[in-house]
Amino acid sequence: MTIQWYPGHMAKATRELQEWIKRVDVVVELADARIPQASRNPVLNDVLSDRPKVLAMVKTDMADETVTKQWQQHFEQNGENVVLMNAKHNKGSGKLIQEVKRLAQPKMQALQKKGIKKRAVRAMIVGVPNVGKSTVINRLVGKNQAKTGDRPAMTRGNHWLKVSNEMELLDTPGILWPKFEDQEVGYKLAITGAIKDERLDFQDVVLYLIQQLQKWYPQALEERYNLSELPSEGVDIFETIGRKRGCLIAGGDVDFDQAAEVILRDFRSEKLGPISLEKPE
Ligand code: G4P
Repeated sequence: MTIQWYPGHMAKATRELQEWIKRVDVVVELADARIPQASRNPVLNDVLSDRPKVLAMVKTDMADETVTKQWQQHFEQNGENVVLMNAKHNKGSGKLIQEVKRLAQPKMQALQKKGIKKRAVRAMIVGVPNVGKSTVINRLVGKNQAKTGDRPAMTRGNHWLKVSNEMELLDTPGILWPKFEDQEVGYKLAITGAIKDERLDFQDVVLYLIQQLQKWYPQALEERYNLSELPSEGVDIFETIGRKRGCLIAGGDVDFDQAAEVILRDFRSEKLGPISLEKPE
């Protein structure tokens, strides 16, 4: 089953991206380190033209470090340029800037050979909603943002934010609309907050999360919810947690919607620890 997420928006965003990409030397694609595959959209490669691209895996503080390293290796083996970032604690910005400049070098040299005056490298950030685009932009621009204070940071148009004398960022983060070909991808995007898809059942989303945790991080569930032994079925874990957390309806049955909210909030606020929901094959 192929589910297109708001195809109208997707087509418009793709057209806009195509225009913006023409103005930059390098594209920085952000992927959520917890779901580095599901949070990427293959449409980007179709519109890149010959622009070099850096893949920045962000929110690495929220993901399983070992799995993130496996993903990095996996992507690098496929010829991608990968940088690990934790924008919340400002880690990886320096490496990202370095990588952007390195990838732009052939083009800058070619321009200079033609006698064109040296200019700053131009880059843009793209990624699905909520992946961390604005946070990364703020980290890169840092205190320099004040210097461009006369230009609103997020307006549309051909404005640039100064990272340094050698690098500028297009001030419009390009939104990639997630595309999901199977329901699992939709679940992962919903769990991490990239989409609010009403077509997905909220309880199903959280049941999927529980099943993933049961499979890969049973200890996280046991410790967080004080469970000495996990029931074998995901739905029974769901019910047990709901009961333990007092999520009950009249008559004493578990209120699964309330329990789902508790579990999702715990996951998103890292109460369950660093978790990766995808592993490279
Ligand atoms: P967007 O522009 O792509 O839509 O994403 P945005 O930067 O708004 O980031 C979405 C949420 O992700 C924000 O949290 C932001 O703080 C968080 N975030 C971004 N990068 C990182 C990271 O590397 N690590 C962690 N742990 N979180 C990150 P929020 O709760 O929506 O807002 P806020 O209250 O934190 O500002």
